[in-house]
Amino acid sequence: MNQTPPQLETIEIAPQCPSGVVELLQITDTHLFADKNADFLGIAPWQSGLAVVDAILENEQLSGTQPHDFILATGDLSQDHSRESYRHFSELMGKLAPPVFWLPGNHDDAVLMQAELDNAGISNAKHLLCGQWQILLLDTQLPGETHGELSAAQLSLLAQALQQYPEHHLLLAVHHQGIPVGCAWLDQHNLRNASAMKALLADHQASTVVLCGHVHQGFDQGEQGVRYLASPSTCIQFKPLSDEFALDTMAPGWRAMSLYPDGRLSTQVWRLPPHFFTPDFSATGY
Ligand SMILES: [Fe+2]
Repeated sequence: MNQTPPQLETIEIAPQCPSGVVELLQITDTHLFADKNADFLGIAPWQSGLAVVDAILENEQLSGTQPHDFILATGDLSQDHSRESYRHFSELMGKLAPPVFWLPGNHDDAVLMQAELDNAGISNAKHLLCGQWQILLLDTQLPGETHGELSAAQLSLLAQALQQYPEHHLLLAVHHQGIPVGCAWLDQHNLRNASAMKALLADHQASTVVLCGHVHQGFDQGEQGVRYLASPSTCIQFKPLSDEFALDTMAPGWRAMSLYPDGRLSTQVWRLPPHFFTPDFSATGY
């Protein structure tokens, strides 16, 4: 049995902003189906995902700001594990100019996902150097389980990134939440061995941010010097601070982030106008 840990493969992206600020977007939990009109608890994920992409484009046109450097897609891109759902995701991303980097969620078929995103020309790179920041995308998927875990191989990639680039600020992207978000039903499906991740992060002297999907809500909290962020899905939203499964009235959305060379991060959750997509509030689970 081969015990050799995987080697970190790094690509470099120069920030477009002359001052070195990295501009990025997070799009997460698109939960797409093969059928673009398929219903997911009262919302058609293709339609809400398309509305999010259109809103991003409109925002950029209205603000006249520079295009984003890249997009992070943090898992649960498919709801039905179909080839077509990943093609639909690629179609959505094709409407947005910057490169897209991705990781799988508990709902994804990782093998099919990689094959289809490869076919679409979407990069499989997992470690990016951009200005004074490094971005690492790790796979927390545990096949057949709703909760997540970082394998020894994934933890090794994190250790290598921290060892090789100790002075770069770190944005670590994963699917599952590393600290509780305050929803008991969701927090049982967390990143189970987050303590192993935190032990490695504890030695990092530069800024550290952990960004996740999975919880379908905006979240921003610090713990032991690490900033933990989570973001709305592009379809259904889960109600914050609810111990039982509950959908939220908030609209689908996405997150924008600016990473400054000195380690500061400014971020904003954007949402579609209220009531554009209303879920079926009688749903008791999914
Ligand atoms: Fe999800």
